[in-house]
Amino acid sequence: MNILPISGSEIVVRKLPFMTAAVLLAAAMLASGCQQPPQTSYSRDIQPLLKSHCQDCHVPGKPGFESSGLDVSTHAALMKGGKYGPLVMPGNALASTLNALVEGRAHPSLRMPHGRGKLNDEDIKKLKDWVDQGAKNN
Ligand code: HEC
Repeated sequence: MNILPISGSEIVVRKLPFMTAAVLLAAAMLASGCQQPPQTSYSRDIQPLLKSHCQDCHVPGKPGFESSGLDVSTHAALMKGGKYGPLVMPGNALASTLNALVEGRAHPSLRMPHGRGKLNDEDIKKLKDWVDQGAKNN
């Protein structure tokens, strides 16, 4: 007795185009490196972000630089860090003070940008990805 409206072989035939599509899609995703976060760029993503959100305080003569020693205007200055040493640990956003402060992982009085609204999630993620990808001058 056959209680199914269609026979087993018909099911296989009907599913085939879908399975072919799924395999092709998986192959395409692997080929395009879809698994990895997109490569961030210092000059395209990070410098403009630091310029608009941090640079009015973190250059010589401004309060952020005067109290912390951190100058964010160039890649070299950013990597040098503050008066207590580096604030960016290439490859490790979790251990980087800079990321901890913009993510609000440190004491609330130390959130950056100092005394202003939090960065948006997209900017926070860009900083994290950039540091995790090696904080390159790319
Ligand atoms: C309104 C001024 C201001 C802005 C804008 C600002 N900062 Fe700061 N920043 C400070 C001050 C002042 C300090 C010194 C610590 C304190 O007094 O809280 C500081 C300290 C820091 C420190 C800690 C340095 C250390 O030695 O521990 C980091 C990292 C930092 N800022 C990163 C940033 C980043 C990244 C941005 C932009 C997203 C930013 N700041 C925006 C004023 C500012």
